[in-house]
Amino acid sequence: MTNDPASSPAPGGPSGAAAAWRGAAYGASFGETERRDSWWLQPLVQGLALLVLGAYATWAAFQGVHYRFGNYLSPFYSPLMKPKWWPLSPALLVLGAPLGFRGTCYYYRKAYYRAFFADPTACAVGEPRKGYVGESRFPFVLQNVHRYLIYLAIPILFFLWWDVVNAFTFEGRFGIGLGSIAILASNTLLTLYTFSCHSLRHLVGGRVDCFSCAVAGGPRRRAWLGASWLNSHHMGWAWWSLCAVCSADLYVRLCSMGVIHDVRLF
Ligand code: FES
Repeated sequence: MTNDPASSPAPGGPSGAAAAWRGAAYGASFGETERRDSWWLQPLVQGLALLVLGAYATWAAFQGVHYRFGNYLSPFYSPLMKPKWWPLSPALLVLGAPLGFRGTCYYYRKAYYRAFFADPTACAVGEPRKGYVGESRFPFVLQNVHRYLIYLAIPILFFLWWDVVNAFTFEGRFGIGLGSIAILASNTLLTLYTFSCHSLRHLVGGRVDCFSCAVAGGPRRRAWLGASWLNSHHMGWAWWSLCAVCSADLYVRLCSMGVIHDVRLF
């Protein structure tokens, strides 16, 4: 850590983590820190996970085949659209909104800024550059579109839940297969991820200074409390939903390719 006086807490000033943060921000070289914990482990694991899951999702989206098996539809291809004039994979027609929504998510931004840019590296760890402009300039200023992408992400959930209904319908009757459960789990987690969004929480109640003075203040407060609880687990929903959606696609794909057979439970 630097000997710059700015890195030492002033009498009556910030202490502990806050002082350490100041130390990193003011003059520490890249990676320099007084932290003794494995601060690099989380960005490393998260970066690897994002690479693996992102590579699988990209590969699956470009395939354009084996996305359907009987009444199961891969969530990457929902809603399924196959216009005659479109020569590529149908997933490429529908993935823009969910991909944009996830790519600009406040949590994922934190994860991939740390994992891939090391900027910020971690709390109280020296950064690779000193001129921080945040997301106020191109291209990162475009991340602010996230608050609008929520309006596209929510309607897609209706299609995904219709896929769940279909996944539990075998030859016109209710049934349960392992694929039904995989698709249900995927879409449940996608719904929890979407409804735990920071932008949605703000929409529900973030702009209200006084619930008892606002129109429908009581229900809005309850909705805001629910959104706040979901939001406090947003990181978990982000990871579980990403794993679940890839798993559901993989299950449908392997069944369609004949590598495995769907297991009917009911
Ligand atoms: S903040 Fe993560 S989805 Fe909106």
